[in-house]
Amino acid sequence: MRTLVTGATGNTCSILIPALINAGQQVRAFVRNENKAQSLKEAGAEIYVGDLDSPETIDAALVDVDQVYLCIWNGPSAAAQGINVINAIKRAGTDPFVVRHSAFGSKGSRIIQQIDEVDDALKASGLRWTSIKPTFFMQNLMMAASSVRSDGNIYWDWANGKAGMIDVRDVAESAFGALMGKAQEGKEYILTGPESVSMYDVATSFTKELGRQVNYIPVPHEASKDAMMSMGFPEFIVDGYIELNEGFTNGFADTANKNVETLTGHAARSVNNFTSDFKEYFVGKN
Ligand SMILES: NC(=O)c1ccc[n+]([C@@H]2O[C@H](COP(=O)([O-])OP(=O)(O)OC[C@H]3O[C@@H](n4cnc5c(N)ncnc54)[C@H](OP(=O)(O)O)[C@@H]3O)[C@@H](O)[C@H]2O)c1
Repeated sequence: MRTLVTGATGNTCSILIPALINAGQQVRAFVRNENKAQSLKEAGAEIYVGDLDSPETIDAALVDVDQVYLCIWNGPSAAAQGINVINAIKRAGTDPFVVRHSAFGSKGSRIIQQIDEVDDALKASGLRWTSIKPTFFMQNLMMAASSVRSDGNIYWDWANGKAGMIDVRDVAESAFGALMGKAQEGKEYILTGPESVSMYDVATSFTKELGRQVNYIPVPHEASKDAMMSMGFPEFIVDGYIELNEGFTNGFADTANKNVETLTGHAARSVNNFTSDFKEYFVGKN
C-alpha cells in the first residue's frame, strides 16, 4: 500500500507519516521544500518535491499510489490547491482512495470557505473518499504560551464560547485509522475532543497543572487581530482566524462526539491531558 501525503511537513502529517511507515505502509511525502523534509526522510518516507499551486508538478506524484491524504494549508490558494490535486487524480485515472483532511469551523470564515470548495469538488468528482473534519486544535493554545509565562493570562477572543477542541495527535491518529481502513467511504467524521470547553475551563486546567493562577481574559476581535499580526501571521489567515473565533464565540462547535474513538480505538485526549503534556512551554516566573 502506497499513500501520497500532501501537507506532509505540517502539524498533522509530521505525526501521521512516521505512524504509517511504522505500520508497514509506503509513504510518498509531497513537500515544496526538501530542506524541511529531513525528519520525514529519516523516518523512511519517499520525498517528492512539488508545488500544489503548480498542477503540472502533481501528476508524477500520483504514479503507483493507492491512497491520497489530502491536507492543504490555510492560505488564499487553498481551494485551488485542493482542486489541483483532485483534477490530477482524475487525470491519472487510477482511482486511489482519498482521505480528505477537512475542518469543522464556521462557514463565515474565509478559511472554511476555501476548505468547503475542495470538499464539494471531491464529492462531485466520482472518486472514492472519506473525510475527517477536526475542530479547533488544542495546539493553537501555544499562541498563549508567552502571556501565560509572563503574566499568567490567556488573552483570547471567544467571550464565553465553548468548543470540542481536539489534540492534533488525535487528528493524526484518526487520519491513520482512516488510511488503515477504519473509515467508511463517503462519510464525513467531525472530530472533537472528549468534551466541549471554554477558555475559562482551559485556564482552570492550566492553574491546576502549573500550580499557579492562570486567568482567561476575553478580548475583542480587534485586539486579537493586532496580536496575531504582530506574531507575523499573514492578514488572510488572521482574518480567517478571527472569523473562526466569531463562530466559536457563538457556539458553532459547542459539541463533542466519539469519532476519534471510532477511528483510533482510544478515547480522545482531554484539555487536562494537553496542559499536562505541554506544560513545559507554559511554565513562567510568577
Ligand atoms: N489549526 C486548527 O485549529 C485546525 C483545525 C481544524 C482543521 N484545520 C485545517 O488543517 C489544515 C492544516 O493542517 P495542519 O495544521 O496539519 O497543516 P499545517 O501545519 O498548516 O501545514 C500546511 C502544510 O501545507 C504545505 N504547503 C503549503 N503550501 C504548499 C504548496 N504550495 N505546495 C506544497 N505544500 C504546501 C506546508 O508546507 P511548508 O512546510 O513548506 O510550509 C505544510 O506542510 C488546514 O486545512 C486547516 O484549516 C486546522
